[in-house]
Amino acid sequence: MPEKKTYYITTPIYYPSGNMTIGHTYTTVAADTMARFKKMQGYDTYFLTGTDEHGQKIEKKAAEAGVTPIQYVDKIVAETKELWKLMDIQYDDFIRTSEERHTRIVQKIFKKFYDQGDIYKAEYEGMYCTPCESFWTPTQLVEKDGQKVCPDCGRPCQPMKEESYFFRMSKYQDWMIEYIETHPDFIQPASRANEMLNNFLRPGLQDLCVSRTSVKWGIPVDFDPKHTVYVWIDALSNYITALGYGTDHDELYQKYWPADVHLVGKEIVRFHTIYWPIMLHALGLPLPKQVFGHGWLLFGADKMSKSKGNVVYPEPIVRRYGVDSLRYYLMREMPFGADGNYTNESFLTRVNADLANDLGNLVSRTVAMIEKYFDGILPTWDETSVDTEMDNPLREHCAALPALVEEQMDKLQFSQALIEIWKVIGECNKYIDATQPWVLGRDPEKRGRLGNVLLMLAECIRYAAVLIGPVMPNTPARIFEQLGITDEALKNWDSLSCFGKLPDGIRVHKGDALFQRLDVKKELEALAAEKKSAAAPKTEPQATAPKKEAPKVEIPEGCVSIDEFFRCKLRVAKVLACEPVKKSDKLLKFDLDLGSEHRTILSGIAKFYKPEELISKNLVIIANLPPRKMMGLESNGMILSAVEEKEDGSEYLRVLTIDGDIAPGSEVG
Ligand code: MSP
Repeated sequence: MPEKKTYYITTPIYYPSGNMTIGHTYTTVAADTMARFKKMQGYDTYFLTGTDEHGQKIEKKAAEAGVTPIQYVDKIVAETKELWKLMDIQYDDFIRTSEERHTRIVQKIFKKFYDQGDIYKAEYEGMYCTPCESFWTPTQLVEKDGQKVCPDCGRPCQPMKEESYFFRMSKYQDWMIEYIETHPDFIQPASRANEMLNNFLRPGLQDLCVSRTSVKWGIPVDFDPKHTVYVWIDALSNYITALGYGTDHDELYQKYWPADVHLVGKEIVRFHTIYWPIMLHALGLPLPKQVFGHGWLLFGADKMSKSKGNVVYPEPIVRRYGVDSLRYYLMREMPFGADGNYTNESFLTRVNADLANDLGNLVSRTVAMIEKYFDGILPTWDETSVDTEMDNPLREHCAALPALVEEQMDKLQFSQALIEIWKVIGECNKYIDATQPWVLGRDPEKRGRLGNVLLMLAECIRYAAVLIGPVMPNTPARIFEQLGITDEALKNWDSLSCFGKLPDGIRVHKGDALFQRLDVKKELEALAAEKKSAAAPKTEPQATAPKKEAPKVEIPEGCVSIDEFFRCKLRVAKVLACEPVKKSDKLLKFDLDLGSEHRTILSGIAKFYKPEELISKNLVIIANLPPRKMMGLESNGMILSAVEEKEDGSEYLRVLTIDGDIAPGSEVG
C-alpha cells in the first residue's frame, strides 16, 4: 500500500501567564480545522500545540501569586488543556518548554550554535527598569514628563549593561533575503513577506540576544550556567523537539518535518520567518514549507490583552451557545490574514442568520416535508419527473462544491470555504421557493417530481454536512441523524466524489432545531450580566499587588490620539470596475478588490473622472464605515480624495492613489 501523505501543522506555543483568551482560541481552532480537513482527505496529519513557559513575566506572576514558576504554569496548562477539550481541539501533542524532552535538546542546539561560531558573547546595552527587572528597547519606552519610563510600571529606566550571548543573524541576512524572494509561498499572506523584506531584512538584520543572566526561570546554558537561554531559541525549537529531533527516537521528526504550515499571529511572523529559518539553516535542517501570519481578533479598536482588561474568554460563550457556534463564528467572521472585531452582537447575529436560519431551517424544512409527504421514508428517484432546468444548476453546483472548498482550505481561507458551502445552502433554500413542494404535494400526479425535489435537497444537505465537519465537528452527526444516514461510507470525503449517492428507503427523523434562534437583545443583556458577575478568571494572579496604571498620555484639544486614528481602517483598494450610477450625475459605482474580499463603494466624483480613467488604479478607502444606501444601492466605505477650492468657487478633485505596486487590502497608516 502506498504511504499516506503527511501533513504537519502547528500553533504558536502560548505564554501561560494567564488563561487563554478567545484570541488564542482563534489560532488553535484554525489549526484544528485544517488538521481535521486534511485528515478527512486521507492525510496522515500531526497537529502540535503547547506552552512557552519560561521568562521573566511568568517568574514575576508566580512570585505575585506566592508560588513557584512551575506550580504557576502547571495550573494554567491544566486549564488550557481543559479549554482545548471544551473547544473540541484534537491535537496530537502538547509540548511544554519546561519538559525535559525540550530543555535537553535546546541546550544541545545552543551548544552547537556556539561551537560553530553562530553565537558569541558580548554586552547587551539597554534601558533597564529595576523594579520590573526588565530591559526595554528605545521604541518600547514611554515618554512621561520628559522622561523615558517603563511601559509596564511607568517608573524611570536607567541605562544598563548585561553580559549576553548573541546569535550572528547578520551573517545569514543575504541568504534569507534570497530565500524569501525565491519562495513566494513561504510567507503568507504575501504582503507579510514584503513587510519582512522591507522593514527588517533589507535595512540590515541585527544580531539577536539569545541569553540572559538576570532571568532565572529559563533553560540554563550548560557550558556557562549563569546564563539562561532567552526566549526565541527556546520557544521556536519546540516545533522540532516535540518530534524527537536530536534524540535516538526521532521517528516523528523523520516522518513529519518539515512542517507544512506554522500558523502564527501577525505580531510573531518576524520570528518565524527570519530567526527560525536562520536557526534551522544553521542547523542544516530544512525549513517549514509555509508560515501563515493571521490577523488579530480585536475588541473595538484594540488588540485584546489582559493588561487592557478587554479580554473575551470563550468558556461562557461555549457554555451558552455550544462549541460549534463559536468555532463557526471564528472561522467565518473574518478572512484568515485580516484583522476583525469580536462583538457579542456580531456573534449572535451570525448564529441566527447562518446557522439557525440558513442551515437549520433548510434541514428542518426538508425533513419535515419528507415526513409529511412520504411518511418519513426517502422516496425513489423518478427519472420521468426530472426538471433539468431547475435541477441541473443545483446538482452541478453541489457536485463542484468539494473542489471549491478544497481550493479555499488549501489557501487557509476558512471563511471563503464556508462562504462556498453557504452558497449551496442558500441555493437549496431558493430551490425550495422555486419548486414549491407544498404545491406539488397537493397534486397526486406530481408525486414523482415532489420526491425528486426532496431527494435533491437531502443529498445537498449531506454534502454540506460532510464539508462543515472540520469547522463544526458536532453538527454533521446531528444532521445525519435527522436524515437517517447511518452508513459511515456516506459521511466521508470520498462519498462526495459523485453526486446522488443517497439511497432511497432510509427513514428520516425529525429532531430538535440544530440551532436555536436567539433573541439578540435579551442575549446581549444576559452576556453583559454574566460578564459582570463572573468571578475573576480562574487562574489570574491571586493578586497581592495593586494593579499598576499604564502612564496616561494627555491629548491636546483639537488633536486625535493615535488609537483614535487607527480606528479608521484605511486600506488599498484596486478598481476592478467603475460605472456611472443610473439617474445620477454625481455618483460613480466602484467594484473594488480588497485582497480578501470585493467591495462596492459609491462615490460622488463623476464630475471629475471618466470611469475608465480609474480602472486598475490602487485607491485608498476607509473600509470600516457603516453601509450607506444611495440611489437604492449600498455603499460600503469611502474613497479618499483631495479637493482644491478654486478662486472662482469651483472645485477640483483628485483621488488618493498609491505610488507603486502594492497588494490590494494592504493597510494604510
Ligand atoms: N510564546 C509566544 C509564541 C512562541 S511561538 C514559538 C507568544 N505567545 S502568546 O501567548 O502571546 O500567543 C500569541 C499568539 O496567540 C498569537 O500569535 C496568536 O496566534 C494568538 N493570539 C492571542 N491573542 C490574539 C488575538 N487577539 N487575535 C488573534 N490571535 C491572537 O507570542
